[in-house]
Amino acid sequence: MPPGPFGPSDTLKAAASMRGKLIGTAVQTSLLGGAPYGTVLTREFNYLTAEYEMKWNVVEPGRGSMNFGPGDAIVGYAASNGMQVKGHTLIWHGAVPSWLDGLPAGDLRTEFERHIRDVMAHYRGRVHAWDVVNEAVADNGAGLRDTLFRQRLGDQYIADAFRLARAADAQALLFYNDYGGEGLSAKADRIHALLQDLLSKGVPLDGVGLQMHISATSRPSTASIADNVRRLAALGLIVHISEMDVRINNAFGTDQERLEAQRSAYRDVVGVCVMEPRCDAVTFWGFTDAHTWLTGDRPLLFDAQYQPKPAFYGVLDALSGR
Ligand code: XIL
Repeated sequence: MPPGPFGPSDTLKAAASMRGKLIGTAVQTSLLGGAPYGTVLTREFNYLTAEYEMKWNVVEPGRGSMNFGPGDAIVGYAASNGMQVKGHTLIWHGAVPSWLDGLPAGDLRTEFERHIRDVMAHYRGRVHAWDVVNEAVADNGAGLRDTLFRQRLGDQYIADAFRLARAADAQALLFYNDYGGEGLSAKADRIHALLQDLLSKGVPLDGVGLQMHISATSRPSTASIADNVRRLAALGLIVHISEMDVRINNAFGTDQERLEAQRSAYRDVVGVCVMEPRCDAVTFWGFTDAHTWLTGDRPLLFDAQYQPKPAFYGVLDALSGR
């Protein structure tokens, strides 16, 4: 049971605002507006990320043919509901359109520059922060992921992307976003070193997103996440928890125990952000188990009937300092 008492004013948005944090979720254009999805979305959240509508294969399905409609719908919805938007994502090895894949290096360079310039220009003034580069570090932390951008543009594609991004939109906050480096680990060390190196070269970088796709029973310790968040903040970066969800289907115990473990995970991680002044946003990768990329699991704050789960109260507790 929730520790309560909880009233109608106990929304995530109200509690997060008291802490000076944005509270966000990934959304899908096709779900916006209607009840119950829109009802819960506008009641609880003030920060939206497109789950896929701003990825390269959606915004430019054919070379030079732009498709901003789905992303525009999210930006318009956010504006009419007093929400901010995080752009996701400009340079990523996923969601690469097939036409881009086959280009020789010179053409790829041209398209890389044009993509950052055109997409950021389109959303200038309406998108508060961008994930400029996503998931550029290799899973074992040994070095950079060997993406088509690295292969054809060289390691400096990361620095180049941030410089192009700043030139395209001087106002937007520029983020590096990744997974698997939430707690201290070889990969987290590599991400830290990469960002430190970029900053030392004067590359315009404002923040780092820790995706936080975790599992209730195998997750980095809270202390380890806190240490990592602190050392990233110490670089002068803003830190976001950027794509949080918590799998429970592989957890032990009864259903109630699984939901309880999930609640603790949410409370602990959001609690780390609450404790760190430079952590100014937490975004979940969806909010209802009815719509999650982790099909078959129940990783989010509301169940498939849009009722708050223990996880929801875990987040509310963390934001309220309980
Ligand atoms: C995922 C979406 O949730 C899926 O719908 C899509 O099929 C693949 O991408 N890291 C990221 C996100 O940065 O963009 C990914 O989103 C999840 C992992």
